[in-house]
Amino acid sequence: MVEEFWRFRRLRMNAIVRNMVAETVLTKNDLIYPLFVIHGEKVKNPVKSMPGVYQMSIDVLVDECKSIVDLGIPAIILFGIPDHKDPMGSDAYSENGIIQRAVRAIKKEVKDLVIITDVCLCEYTSHGHCGILDGEIIDNDKSLEIYSKIALTQVQAGADMVAPSDMMDGRVQKIRRTLDEHGYVNVPIMSYSAKFASSLYGPFREAAQGAPKFGDRKSHQMDYRNTDEAVREAEQDILEGADIVMVKPAGMYLDIIHRVKTNFQVPVAAYQVSGEYAMIKAAGEKGWLDEEKVMIESLFAIKRAGADLILTYFAKDIAKLIDKGVI
Ligand code: PBG
Ligand code: ZN
Repeated sequence: MVEEFWRFRRLRMNAIVRNMVAETVLTKNDLIYPLFVIHGEKVKNPVKSMPGVYQMSIDVLVDECKSIVDLGIPAIILFGIPDHKDPMGSDAYSENGIIQRAVRAIKKEVKDLVIITDVCLCEYTSHGHCGILDGEIIDNDKSLEIYSKIALTQVQAGADMVAPSDMMDGRVQKIRRTLDEHGYVNVPIMSYSAKFASSLYGPFREAAQGAPKFGDRKSHQMDYRNTDEAVREAEQDILEGADIVMVKPAGMYLDIIHRVKTNFQVPVAAYQVSGEYAMIKAAGEKGWLDEEKVMIESLFAIKRAGADLILTYFAKDIAKLIDKGVI
């Protein structure tokens, strides 16, 4: 057809037609909901900088998981807040650690929910760093030993998938070997492959109480000026046995999601982090943005970039909107 007769607007005139030709879809199967578990009973502490997000004791968490299943959300990712921290982060790999107990409790009472556990040390160490310190430096290989213990105890408690988020080198291989040696060959690893040293984790550190007591995480998390390195991180994790690779944060890192997705034939997850959630919530509360519309747009952007899965604090809101037919 001659160019001058082309009208893009023909396919935009009618909502039904727009739906018919839309390239990007967002479904409940794309969603993973992050949850924070803390000691105690009947505890539901609001996280100030994340309206709608709570630290929950195990009893409250189990009920929450039931309603998540009812909403049709397939998976959660669990973060634990221990009541005791030490330099080794021992609660993280204790059989009776907060996560191990939470996983057992959920498994006992809730069917049809994929439980993913975050594998990191920062919530459990007294110094708040994501590994075992040698002076002020994280000892990579000593930390790997601990990470494999964390992952193993989580899986022994019933976790369906583990997600190492520490960004030490070689952790995927170490965890894969350990799980395999113990017979857990069918438990997948979702690796936080390209996790950037971002200022957008601020609210999470309030929720999970895992801020570093000194310094920062730049010696292990990625420099946000880099993209080639993110591709190599993903490649390395895949070679080491990662089943799903993750990019984090999501909204400001759409180029990374796209590059990882186009380079590798594996499922890609993206983590819309606490700061992304807080910004949308805050602007919504002030009446400066339409919270619901921006939330939906932000998630479609992440999917459009190439993410197969999204970890998001909006998961429940999205599931409800899907039920209402808004999405
Ligand atoms: C633990 C971890 C963090 C997040 C997920 N796992 C914090 C950090 O690396 O400091 C951030 C998630 C969010 O901000 O929502 N390492
Ligand atoms: Zn950490």
